[in-house]
Formats: sequence, C-alpha cells, structure tokens
Amino acid sequence: DIIFVTCTAPVNIAVVKYWGKRDEDLILPINSSLSVTLHQDQLKSTTTVACSARFKEDRIWLNGKEENINQPRLQSCLREIRRLVRKRRSNRDPGADVLSLSHKVHICSENNFPTAAGLASSAAGYACLVYTLSRLLSVEGELSTIARQGSGSACRSMYGGFVQWHMGMRADGKDSVAEQVEPESHWPELRVLVLVVSAERKPVGSTAGMQTSVDTSSLLKHRAEAVVPGRMDEMIQAIRKRDFSTFGELTMKDSNQFHATCLDTYPPIFYLNDVSRRVIGLVHRYNRHYRETRVAYTFDAGPNAVIYTLQPYVSEFVQVVKHFFPPETNGEELFYQVIKLCCE
Ligand code: DP6
Repeated sequence: DIIFVTCTAPVNIAVVKYWGKRDEDLILPINSSLSVTLHQDQLKSTTTVACSARFKEDRIWLNGKEENINQPRLQSCLREIRRLVRKRRSNRDPGADVLSLSHKVHICSENNFPTAAGLASSAAGYACLVYTLSRLLSVEGELSTIARQGSGSACRSMYGGFVQWHMGMRADGKDSVAEQVEPESHWPELRVLVLVVSAERKPVGSTAGMQTSVDTSSLLKHRAEAVVPGRMDEMIQAIRKRDFSTFGELTMKDSNQFHATCLDTYPPIFYLNDVSRRVIGLVHRYNRHYRETRVAYTFDAGPNAVIYTLQPYVSEFVQVVKHFFPPETNGEELFYQVIKLCCE
C-alpha cells in the first residue's frame, strides 16, 4: 500500500539573471530572466516521493538528513499540488480517487553536487520535487508556477534547453511562468564547462542577498527597468540564430552587471573571489587573442565559474585553464566538468 515515484531534474544556469522580488511570498521577480538547462547526469537532483495511508505526517530528507517539513516554501509547493489534485477531483476525474487527499507523503531528495555553493541546487531540487509530486498524484497544469514558489529559478528547470521566465504583471503571479525558447537539440555545438572554484557554502544566500539589493541598490532598479527588457530580446534573437559571439558577450555583460548590483548593495555582497576574477581575465585574454568571442563566463551567487563555449574550442580552452590553474593553486582545488546540453 505504498506507492512511490522517482524523478530527476537538471540544473539551469542563467544567462540573463534573476535578482530581486516584487513579492516575497509568491516569489515574483522584478525582471524576466533566461537560462540554459543542462541535460546531463553530472548536475542533477533526484527525488523519490512515497505516499501511503499509513504515513502519519509529511516528512522530507535532503541528502540523507531529515529536514523540517514546515518550511514555508515547501509548504507552498505541497499546498499548490494538492490544490490541483482537488481540482481534478471536482472535475470528477476517476483517476484522482486512486490516492486519497489525506494521504501524507515522504520525500527523499539528493543532489549530486555541492548544495548552496552557487550551483543552482535549489533550482534543480524544487523543480524535481514539484515534478515528482505531479507524477505521483497524476496532476497536470502550470507546474512552473508551483516550482517558482519553491525557489524562483526552479521554474526554469521545468523545461529543457533555452528557457525564459516571464516576470509577469499580475499580483497573483499567474502570468509569472517559464517557457521554452528553444529545445536542447537547437544548438548541438554549445558546451558548458563548470569550473568549481570552491564547494563551500556561500556567505550570503541568494534569497537574503536579493532582498537587501532590492532595498538598497539603485543600480538594480535601473537594471530591471532599463536594461533587462532589451537584453532579453537580444538574447532570444542570438539563441535563435545560434550567434555565439552575441550570446557570449551578452552573457558576460549580464553576469558582470549582476555582480555590480551586488557591490552596489549596502552593505555590499561579494560572491566572486580572486580565482573567479582570474578566470574572467583569462577568458577576455583568450577571446582577444582570437579577436572573437569563443568562450563566455557567468557566475551566480558564488565564486564558481560556468563557461559557455562551442565544441571546437573546448579542448584548447581546457588546456589553457589547466595551464593557468595547476591543481595546487593556493591550495584551492579547481575541477572541471564538460557538459553537453543534450546526449546524442
Ligand atoms: C544568481 O532562485 O536561488 O542564481 O527565489 O529566493 O530561491 P529564490 O532565489 P534563487 O536565485 C537565483 C539567483 C541567481 C540568478 C538566476 O539563477 O537567475
């Protein structure tokens, strides 16, 4: 009398960053954003959800350790999914009776990469939780708005390939949804290289960090109103045309502007470290050498670099990185992972 379902969800890495909320509870952003969902086994969340009449309460384990189920964001996701189950029921869908609404769930979630090190672990985690629950309870609907209520960036991991998150205008968030721009097969030569600079937990989490930025940074306001709308359009065009040099340049500029808003936050937030800054310098020197943008970096709320490039340039660039960052640099371990968007 126990039913369970296991699913996996991949990480997504934004090229136009989400930073700042207009509604903290519903998780509604102050600007639209765009990301690439990685489709590979290295960076993913795996979640198993079990359901039984014998379970007395909802429970959750993250990476093997039981966590508090009463966190507001987890509760929002569970509540919204159960709302969809109820809706199906009222539509007299016989399938909905298979599982009683009063049944409790046990959730087991694992990441195969460092949690909270700025590698979008919450995005994959919540996307996976919402998707697995939806399979177990056979509900359909706008699942990205539910994942969004777990963690903003999670709504983009509900789709593969190139995904935009429309900021939406409504106060109830119904139009703040993720949408696929192009599938993963659209740009077969695109590669993602993850340079793990540090697997430590970041000092300021993105939720708290963006809240302080909204309260104190005028640059963030300018970015959301005057920069991102045009940049979203340009980025979508570059992706559609597979124009790497525009894609790469916009990606780097957007990462730099995001980190500039962190510096403009008061007190300032520093996510990049010396190794991150040396990676930035190296990428620009490499591109200058070839007089074209062949590689592009982006950094989220942590020092780890994500490099976008094209297949013909991967091996040379990896050699260059290895040359400038030999294994024992400052005792910091730097490891690499080359990821394709799509497994042929
Ligand atoms: C820098 O989605 O982790 O990675 O909505 O508060 O959970 P919450 O924040 P989160 O923020 C991600 C910020 C970012 C940029 C991005 O992924 O767009």
